Amino acid sequence: MSIGIVGLGYVGLPLAVAFAEAGEEVIGVDVDHGRVAALTQGRSPIEDISDERLQAVLGSCRFTTRPVELHETEAILVCVPTPLTRNREPDLGPLLAATRALADVVRRDQLIVLESTTFPGTTRGHLVPLLEESGLRAGEDFALAFSPERVDPGRTDYTIRTTPKVVGGLTPRCTERAAAVYGRICDHLVPVSTPEVAELSKLLENIFRSVNIALVNELARLADRMDIDIWEVIDAAATKPFGFTRFNPGPGMGGHCLPVDPFYLSWKAREYDFSAEFIELAGKVNQSQPYFCVEKVERALNAVGKPVRGAKIAILGVAYKPEVGDTRESPALKIIELLRERGADIAYHDPHVPELTELGLAGTGLEDALENADLAVIVTAHPSVDYGLVVARAPQVLDLRGTTRHLGALQL
Ligand SMILES: NC(=O)c1ccc[n+]([C@@H]2O[C@H](COP(=O)([O-])OP(=O)(O)OC[C@H]3O[C@@H](n4cnc5c(N)ncnc54)[C@H](O)[C@@H]3O)[C@@H](O)[C@H]2O)c1
Repeated sequence: MSIGIVGLGYVGLPLAVAFAEAGEEVIGVDVDHGRVAALTQGRSPIEDISDERLQAVLGSCRFTTRPVELHETEAILVCVPTPLTRNREPDLGPLLAATRALADVVRRDQLIVLESTTFPGTTRGHLVPLLEESGLRAGEDFALAFSPERVDPGRTDYTIRTTPKVVGGLTPRCTERAAAVYGRICDHLVPVSTPEVAELSKLLENIFRSVNIALVNELARLADRMDIDIWEVIDAAATKPFGFTRFNPGPGMGGHCLPVDPFYLSWKAREYDFSAEFIELAGKVNQSQPYFCVEKVERALNAVGKPVRGAKIAILGVAYKPEVGDTRESPALKIIELLRERGADIAYHDPHVPELTELGLAGTGLEDALENADLAVIVTAHPSVDYGLVVARAPQVLDLRGTTRHLGALQL
C-alpha cells in the first residue's frame, strides 16, 4: 500500500519526501506538467528539499499528473493551494477541482485527508458531497479528515517529525486512521474531535501571527513619530520571561499564508452575521506598512537633498522572508512598485530570486546593485548577504529588518 499526495508544492513535496524516507511508497500528483517532469528528473523546485534529498527517494517516490493512479493507495493527502480571488474572497477552485478528480478514484476503506488551510466547514461541507458522488459514504465507506500543515519554509529547528500534528476526522475512526498514517512520520499527534476544530486551529495560529505583527508594526510607526527606538523597546520587553511573545516590525506580511488565510475566516464569519474585527484591522495595518516604508525612503533621501524621482535605489531581499525564494505577496514587490511610481531607478539583489518577471526586473550581484546607489533598502535580510559591505559601500542604508542596528544604519 502506498501514500498519495495531491499538490507538490511547499507543503506537498516535503510530505512526499518524508513518507518516502520513512519507507513508504509514494505517488505524487500535480496538475503542473513541468513540475512533475522536473521532480521525476530529481530537480526540486523548493529550497527545503535539495535535489540530492529528492534523488535519494526517487526509487520509492513516483510523480504523475494522473489522479487515477491514486486508486490503489492507502491514503491520499491533499495539499493544493487555497488562494484568494481578486476580490479577496476564498478561491476554492483548485481544491474543488482536486476533490472532483478524487471522486473518480476514491475506493472503499481509503483515507482522504485535507491539509490545505481553509475556513471551518470546508471538509464537511465541500469535500463530503463531492467525494460522495463516487457512491461511497464518507466516514463509513472511506475515512475523511482534516490535518493542517504547519511547515515553515526555511526553518530547520523543527521538522515534520518534531512538529506536533493536529488531526480531526469526520468520525473517531477517521481520526484514528489519519493519526496512524501520520504517526509514521510525526512523533506527536494531536487528535481533536472534528474537522472544524482542526480547520479553525490552523487559522488561529496564522491569525495570532498576523495580529501580533500588525500590533508591532503599528507601534513601530508610533515610536517613529515619537522618536523612540522601537527595537530597543522590543528588546527590553522581550526580557520578560512570561506573558510576552516577541514579534518584530518589518515591511509588511508576505507568503502564501499570513496575507491570505485570515481572510478565509473573516469571509466565513460574515455568513454568521459576525464581523471579525481583529482580522480585518490586522490586514489593514499590515497592508499599509509598505507605504510607511516608502515614506521612510522619501525622508532618508530628503535628508541628503534628493528627491525619489531619479534616485538610484538598491533593494536588498525581495523574497517574503529569509532563506526562501518565494515572492508570493512579498511586501518588497509593493515597495518597488510604489518607488517606481515615484520615479525611482530600482536595482535589486536577492541570492534566492534571480528575476522578478512580473516587474520586468532581473536581479544583480550585491556589488552591482550597490554601484552608484543613492540608498540601499534592506527589505528581507537573507543571512548570506554581507551587510558590513552594504553599510560600507552604500552612502545611506535604510534597514526594514533591524539587521544592521549595530552598524549604525537607519532603521525602520
Ligand atoms: N507554504 C506554506 O508555508 C504553507 C504552510 C502551511 C499550510 N499551507 C497551506 O497548504 C496549501 C498548499 O500551499 P503550498 O504553499 O504548498 O502551495 P504551492 O503553490 O507551493 O503548491 C501547490 C501545488 O498544487 C498544485 N495544484 C494546484 N491545483 C491542483 C489540482 N487540482 N490537482 C493537483 N495539484 C494541484 C500546484 O501546481 C502546486 O504545485 C495551502 O492551502 C496553504 O495555505 C502552506
